[in-house]
Amino acid sequence: MSHEKKISDVFSDLEDFFNFIDECIGDVCFVVEEKKDNDQSNSGKLTDSEQKKSISSEKKQQVSIFETIIRECSKLPEPYTAIYQEKSKIIKEIAERIKHCKDCELYKGRTNAVPGDGNPNTYVVFVGEAPGYDEDKRGKPFVGKSGKLLNKLIEDILGLKREDVFITNVVRCRPPQNRTPDKKEIEACSHYLFEELDVIRPKLVVALGAPAAKVLLDKDEKISELRGNFYTRSDFTVFVTFHPAFVIRNPAYMEVLQEDFKKIKEFLQAI
Ligand code: URA
Repeated sequence: MSHEKKISDVFSDLEDFFNFIDECIGDVCFVVEEKKDNDQSNSGKLTDSEQKKSISSEKKQQVSIFETIIRECSKLPEPYTAIYQEKSKIIKEIAERIKHCKDCELYKGRTNAVPGDGNPNTYVVFVGEAPGYDEDKRGKPFVGKSGKLLNKLIEDILGLKREDVFITNVVRCRPPQNRTPDKKEIEACSHYLFEELDVIRPKLVVALGAPAAKVLLDKDEKISELRGNFYTRSDFTVFVTFHPAFVIRNPAYMEVLQEDFKKIKEFLQAI
């Protein structure tokens, strides 16, 4: 996954971008035209490097300024880019609504509701089931044993940091005794997940376990049939794998989980 910003990440407003290009591009076009003239008058006589030399040094300087501006813009650290700021703002607004949500009965037993957490400018989002004991206490997703395993896979196999990705859940309040959330709870809560995904617009969404796969794919197949595969949706691709908690309870599946993360890495490298 490339960490370089696209021009569209730097200029949130297309008009801004076109004004900027307008200021620079005239000079670049001029140089291209000048090079074409040279090509015609010297047809075949000058090598490429000789043609470059024939461009006036003033024009060369202008091109180099243009190239520097583009390069520097693409290096801007994320928190200073307009789209990052806009995405963070909306993600925070969604988080506030989640913290005060009473749309199903689960709010009665919570210490904290658990909004999504991480980089809203990421290409990849991980979706779990629902908060457990540690997440309920801290108000953050995947901070217990499952979180440790997830962090390790993200770091060791994907070569990313937890802060590079976004981690969230289908349901935001801990179900009693960590039971699987029921249909009504999932229906009441899953719009928050889709709101987050609408803002982040990731390339890949990794469903960790059956409830996430079911919500993201709207399919009823068993996790054993869905896992290890990519599913193309109109807005993003979904990859299904086991939930880290399942693998902690069933260590024989650790290798399968690791292989799945290698597939995720390949996907991200191809973006
Ligand atoms: N399991 C989940 O599904 N989500 C969490 O946030 C933690 C554990």
